[in-house]
Formats: sequence, C-alpha cells, structure tokens
Amino acid sequence: MVKYLFVLSVIFASFLISCNSNNLKDDAVFNAVDVDSIPLIPFPQSLEKGEGVFKMDAAVNFFYPEELSNEACKLMISLIDTCTNSSEPIIKEQGTKTCNLILSDDFKSTSDSPEAYELEITSTKVTLTAKTKLGIRRGIRTLLQFRSETIGVSEDDFAYYLPAVKITDYPTFEHRGLLLDVCRHYFEMEVILKYLDAMEYYKMNVLHLHLTEDQGWRMPIEKYPLLNEISAWRLDTNGNKYGGFYTKDELKYIVEYATARDITVIPEIELPGHSQAALAAYPQFSCNGGPIEVVNDWGVFIEIYCAGNDSTFIFLEDVLTEVMEIFPSEYIHIGGDEAPKFRWEHCSKCQKRMHDEGLADEHELQSYFIQRIERFLNKNGRKLIGWDEILEGGLSPTAAVQSWRGMEGGKQAAETKHEVVMSPTSHCYLDYGLASIDLEKICSFDPIPTDLDAEYHHFIIGGECNMWTEHVPDEANLDSKVFPRMIGLAEVLWSYPKNRDFDDFYRRLKRHYPVLEEMGIDYGLETIGASIGQEFSDSVVLITLEKNLADLEVKYRWKSESNKAWLGYIEPFKLEVTDALEVQAYKNEEAYGEPIVQSFVFHQGLNKEVSYTNEWNEWYTGNAEKNLVDGKLGSIDFRDGNWQGFWGKNIDVTIDLGELKPIMSVGANFYQYANSWIFFPKEISVQISEDRELWNQLSKMVNEENDLSNKKHIKYMYSNTHYGRKDIPKARYIRFQATNVGKVPDGHEAAGQEAWLFIDEIMIE
Ligand code: ACM
Ligand code: ZN
Repeated sequence: MVKYLFVLSVIFASFLISCNSNNLKDDAVFNAVDVDSIPLIPFPQSLEKGEGVFKMDAAVNFFYPEELSNEACKLMISLIDTCTNSSEPIIKEQGTKTCNLILSDDFKSTSDSPEAYELEITSTKVTLTAKTKLGIRRGIRTLLQFRSETIGVSEDDFAYYLPAVKITDYPTFEHRGLLLDVCRHYFEMEVILKYLDAMEYYKMNVLHLHLTEDQGWRMPIEKYPLLNEISAWRLDTNGNKYGGFYTKDELKYIVEYATARDITVIPEIELPGHSQAALAAYPQFSCNGGPIEVVNDWGVFIEIYCAGNDSTFIFLEDVLTEVMEIFPSEYIHIGGDEAPKFRWEHCSKCQKRMHDEGLADEHELQSYFIQRIERFLNKNGRKLIGWDEILEGGLSPTAAVQSWRGMEGGKQAAETKHEVVMSPTSHCYLDYGLASIDLEKICSFDPIPTDLDAEYHHFIIGGECNMWTEHVPDEANLDSKVFPRMIGLAEVLWSYPKNRDFDDFYRRLKRHYPVLEEMGIDYGLETIGASIGQEFSDSVVLITLEKNLADLEVKYRWKSESNKAWLGYIEPFKLEVTDALEVQAYKNEEAYGEPIVQSFVFHQGLNKEVSYTNEWNEWYTGNAEKNLVDGKLGSIDFRDGNWQGFWGKNIDVTIDLGELKPIMSVGANFYQYANSWIFFPKEISVQISEDRELWNQLSKMVNEENDLSNKKHIKYMYSNTHYGRKDIPKARYIRFQATNVGKVPDGHEAAGQEAWLFIDEIMIE
C-alpha cells in the first residue's frame, strides 16, 4: 500500500495565497484558454485532449507519498510563485480540486525509460504517475509549462492553467545534450547556470562542458598550477590578457546545480590534439619541448601531446584523476579530434613508441594513445567518449563515439556495437550561421542514419548541439546562437520520430518566448527571413524568393535601384542583369533580421548543360549540376550553399552551350581559407571546341598565391580568348579544368592534410 500524506492547508496557509480573488474574472480567463494549442516543448509522445481546464491555485489539495516530498515541494513552490498578486489566504473547499503524485512499481509505459510518466488532467483532478522519481520530475516539468503565457492567456496575472489532457510520455533518446565551449571564449559561471535552467525546462539532460583547448585551459589541477597561471590566458590581438578559469568550488557548484536539475555534466579534456594551451605551460609533454604559446587564433594547431613520452601519460592521468573527483559522470570526454600527426612523424620518441608497440602508422599511434587513456578511465570506473576520429586506427570495445564529421563515423561505431552520440556539422553546429543551420533544419534532424540496420539503432543513445565559441565573444551573442535552436534539438531528441511538423513546433515555440525573456535569455532569430532560390526552364533562369517562416512577408530590390522602394514579392522573376539582389523579410511590419544580399551574374553559360568528370564532395554540393551555370555567386561565407567543394580532386567540367557562340572570356570564382584547408587551384586551363573532338587550348593560368593566414579570399581566375587574335573564336563546348594543390602546404598547421578546392560559377562572356 502506498501511504499518502494529505498536505494540510494549515501547513501551507502562509504560502498558498489566492492567485485571483475574482471568480468572474477567472471564468473569463478559463474561457480564453486556448485548449487547442497545447504549448508543450518537447511535445509528449502521446496526448489526448479532454474537456475543460484545471486552474492550479491555492485551492488545490496535494496528495503524495512521503518519498516524493522534494518533488511535491518543488511543484508547490513554483505554484506559490504564481500568487504574487494577492496577499489574501484562501479558504479551501475541501476536496474540490486535487493534485496527486503517484509513484508506482506497477506503472506501465510503452518505454522502459526511467523518465517515463503519465499525466491525466481533468477540470477537478491532476494525476501524475511514474515508476521513478525522475519520471515524476519530468511530469512536473510538463505541468510547469502550462503557464498563462504559454497557454495563450494574456491576462496580467500569472498562473498555471491546465487544459484537460491525458499525456503518456517518455524520451526517445536517453542522451540529450548541449556542448558548451568555454575555452575559445570564457563565460562566467552564472551563464552556465542560466543554461542549466533552460535545459531543465526543455528536458535536456547532458551538459558537455568543453574545458580545455589550444586557446585556454579552464580548470585548476592542483598538481599542475601553471595550467591556471599560464594555460588559462591568451594574449588577444590588442595585446590584452584574455581568459580565466573556474575554481574547483565553482565547478562543484555547477555539477550540484546540474544534478538538482537531472542534468549530467560531462567534462571534455582534449587529447592528444587541441592541447596547445596546456603545452604552453608544460612544454616537456610536447614532442620538441617548446617554447609554445597559448594560441590566439582559430583552427587546428600543430603542437600536440607527445605519444612517445611516458611522462605525458602520467600528466594526463593526474589531470583526469582530479577531473573525476569533481565530475561524477559515467562518461569522460577526451576529445580526440583534429590531431595533426606532423610532430609525431618527426619525433624520435613517438617513432620509437610506434616501433616498440608494432604500430603501422601515426593513426595507430593515436589509437594507442586513446586506448591507454581509456584503460586508465575504466580502471577508475568510468567510460571514455571521444569524437569520431577515435575510430581511426582501431577503437577499444567500451568506448563511445560522438559523430561530428557527418553521420558516417556514428554509423560505423553503432555497427560495431559502440554507443553513439550524434552531432553532425550538417544539423547540430550552433556556431554555424542561420544560412546553413536554421531552426527548421535542426528540427528536421534525424539522429538515426537512414542506412543503419534496425538491430543497431539502440546504439544511437542521443545527440547534442555543439556551441563552439570562436566567434562568440559574449553572453548576448551566445544566447542568440543557442536559442531558440537548442530548443529545436530538445524536441527532436525527446519526441523523435513523432511531431515532425515544423509549423506546429514554431506555433508552440512563440508561446515560450516570454519564458525565455524571464530567464534573461537574449534569444536570436529562428532563421534568415527568406531564401533565394531558382527555377530553370529551357530559355530562362528564374529567381524565386521564399519566406522561411509562415508569419513573414518578403520584399526585394536590385542594388543598382536601391533608391527605389522595396517590391513585394509575388512570383518568380527573370535573371537578366548582373547585379546584387537585396531581400528583406518583415514580421508584423518590422524588419526581420538584416537584408540578405545575393550577387548574380548574367552570362552566356547560364542554365547550360555541364558534365563533370569528377564528382563534387557531398558536404559542399552547391547547386549540384546547375551550380556553375546558375548565375548565383558564392559569398565570403563558404558554407552559404553556393560553393561547390572538391576534396583531393581536380575540377574538370565541360559546358555545352547548345550552339556555336563567340567566346570572349571564360573564368570562375575560387575560394581560399587556409584554416579550413581550402586553397586556390594550382592552375586553371580552358579549352574550347566546336564538336567536342577537336579542342583549342586557350591560355593556362598558374596561381602563385598561397596565403596561409586565416584570411578568407575569393579570386576570379579567367582566360581571355581574343589576345593576339584577329577574330573572336566561336565554340559550342568549353572544357574548364582546375588543379587541386594536393596537400595543405608546408608552413600551415594542417600541413600534409588533403586540401579542398572550392569553385563557383563559370562565367562565359
Ligand atoms: C569538432 O568540431 N572539432 C569536434
Ligand atoms: Zn613525440
């Protein structure tokens, strides 16, 4: 028999005070409650609507078993907060309204998740049932989302109105996380606490705290005090010391605060790469002994821990020992991504290790490194998780993988029976702009690879959104990047594969904005207001504009006519000029975000047929086979969807103009950004032909430029046909080739890695 405690009104009389003493007004509010639009996020697995509304107020009697005292108190304290408008104690009518919390071993759910719960609301009774306290707490969080703002009551008084529903709920994925990089930029503990509050509200349960990086080390390690004195600080571009660290007490408080919200904090201590800040303080653990500085730049850096040096492992074990003292998580994240092998290739100690251990190459040395660390973690009762690079050179049986370079690593890990957290750059990177990852894109995320056999699905334990902070200098910026997109992922990971209707999600989300404001969250936009698309017919290229949210309006104008009024978009229009198109979205008559500016070029090759000898890379498809002839130019953001990328391959395409045309010049735009391993071609070559058999070589052009700095460049490389000729040649076919530089050149941190070649638009004049 479950023993219920009746909470006497006398105990709570001093707290439970009337929310609203005017019953007539109450009735009006009740009638205004929009029971058709249930605002819950994440949306429950199953929800049936009933009749009527239950108002949570001081007249409610609570019943709960003793072991749920904490949960019940939390619920009641939240309700007491609702009663700020009146100081009148309420006289209860015994038994009219009840709220029951029931912990039951007999609770049956379609899921065996400990987070499962059932919630039944009628106009007189609320019943929350679960097998575990955690399930009860999840149900309470659902109850607390029925606030007046979210339920659509715009009354001044704040209250909880519960529409009659029957909810059966549980999460699809057990791991629902946010990665926060506090290294590239440092954020105060209070920011982390604010995020934990928001995560709790949306039933997220993992904070992945990225604590060490090339640019800063954020945790004190008693045995190695220089990690705070030196590694926590970089000199910024103005010569100022930038950085900081959390004290151990602060870190303990963060863990406590998270635990109270059912959130696990998984610390990430990066190794063997992304470790330059630590090596600046302790260069004896690098391959060549330094000197090394804490990095003040973004990218992948060459200094990594020496794998041949046993003292490196002693250092890391000491560090991890102190990390485990603070963080009780089952998993410890050890990074493992983006470790250039250059130093290892040239280090006698690392080479000796490879020889002694019979390791075939530096990838196997990385595997040795990771597995040695894993044995240490296992010995201490913990499990290792790392980025998908830890698959290279062999993965130990108990390690878990976080897939970031697409889904493939995660798929491979699941097929070999490793637990997997999915956070591919395609959907989960919150540092990416809204042009590439907006809210709708996140909401469309499918954590299960489509070609993964069902027997392995359960190895995908969940996902994370990754908030890297290279370009996020402050809290306001951070808020605007994390919110509302994180909430989209919270919904996916809890509700998947149900509730995939974005319009419905967006309708619910708008109800939550006042709640975010109350939490002090400076949330950003959901998307860039409009997308510029194209339609191709035989004779013309049409430009289409699409609003990216149902409640927006879209206007446009050509830049050369920016003195004229904006035009409301009605239907697709022809591309017939070389100009920049400006597009502005409006929401409720107000500009929504900045104008979007897109350059177009009108030329003879538009919409012609292009055949590729080498396929583009699946990560950078651009506009597929139309990319080079769509007239739409790639911007300085190489992820803008206009650039076509080739990895380790040359570009070799032939364009068929359909008929003989005089050719004045042929050229294309190329991209260079050394930090992302993208380089201008070594050489371009243009050939023309009337019949695709006999080819006439126009000039070849060799590129001398090879900027290894972190600047982004676009370069137009072209060939004129008429130099030294009397007549302008005619051609139907144009063969355009560009040669990849091969490997990232020496002198760059990523030297020796395969380089990218990025192209957009072959302009034929
Ligand atoms: C990563 O984004 N380098 C894991
Ligand atoms: Zn070494």
